[in-house]
Amino acid sequence: MSVSITKENFFWHKVHSLTGIIPIGFYMLQHLVLNTFSLAGPDYFNGVIGFFDGMPFHFLLVLEITLIWLPLLFHALYGFVIINHSQPNYSPTKYGWAENRMYLFQRISGAGLFLFLIYHVLSTTLTKYVNGDSQSIRYASMHAHFENKLILVVYLVGILLASYHLSYGVWNFCIRWGITVSERAQLKMRSFALGMFIVVTLIGWAAIVGFLIPKYNAPATGVTAMSSTSNQSM
Ligand code: HEM
Ligand code: HEM
Repeated sequence: MSVSITKENFFWHKVHSLTGIIPIGFYMLQHLVLNTFSLAGPDYFNGVIGFFDGMPFHFLLVLEITLIWLPLLFHALYGFVIINHSQPNYSPTKYGWAENRMYLFQRISGAGLFLFLIYHVLSTTLTKYVNGDSQSIRYASMHAHFENKLILVVYLVGILLASYHLSYGVWNFCIRWGITVSERAQLKMRSFALGMFIVVTLIGWAAIVGFLIPKYNAPATGVTAMSSTSNQSM
């Protein structure tokens, strides 16, 4: 059996589907949750950054390459192969079903997410590696980013796209892998996915708010050892 990555193929489609959940979906959920440490103040957020930064360089790099960059790159590139080969399935007159619209939005959100992630990773992790220090990803730097209204809007929309893409993806994944077979199970999962979309969006937006609201002097107990910055109060 020939397995060409440029043509749509059962095997690669399954790998694509799996990478959307493991590891990328899990990565994104924990990433957004950890980002909400911004709500507790600079020390807490920098404590999380310091935790990852404290890992040996080669270990962190291998983790990032194998668990984030390669799966994400594969998922994104093969996602475009799928988009390229798919038939337009939504027309308001012919197939105006909610399912078809949601399916189309998932493809649009994937393409939008791709652009967002290029900007996001360049301005965070890659800047960190180029500069050779983690200042660019610490609280003060993220705070400065979000003071720019355009960047703020890009992030609010990026989170919305990511959250929709993942939540709809979970619903579709359950059908694709035979986890939800009956119509009743699929409807239940659809309600779950809708709830997930709302909750994940709010978590991401809350993290952003954490970088914008003035901070009280958060007690640094328990995190000072991990945090390498002073008690900044916004
Ligand atoms: C609240 C909004 C967000 C904030 C404040 C944020 C913050 C950050 C920070 C500080 C880093 C640098 C981490 C490091 O290099 O150690 C980072 C990296 C990254 N973020 Fe986000 N992020 C947000 C939303 C997202 C979303 C929605 C995604 C979608 C999946 C995402 C995916 C990534 C990826 C893939 C990396 C590179 C990870 C690595 O190589 O270690 N982020 N983000
Ligand atoms: C970076 C750009 C991305 C592109 C271009 C993209 C593209 C796609 C496309 C086209 C699909 C539909 C596949 C199909 O229905 O056959 C899909 C599914 C999926 N994506 Fe993405 N995606 C991207 C990023 C992400 C991210 C960051 C996540 C996780 C947060 C993710 C999670 C998922 C999930 C869970 C599915 C459903 C898998 C399934 O249908 O079984 N994707 N993606």
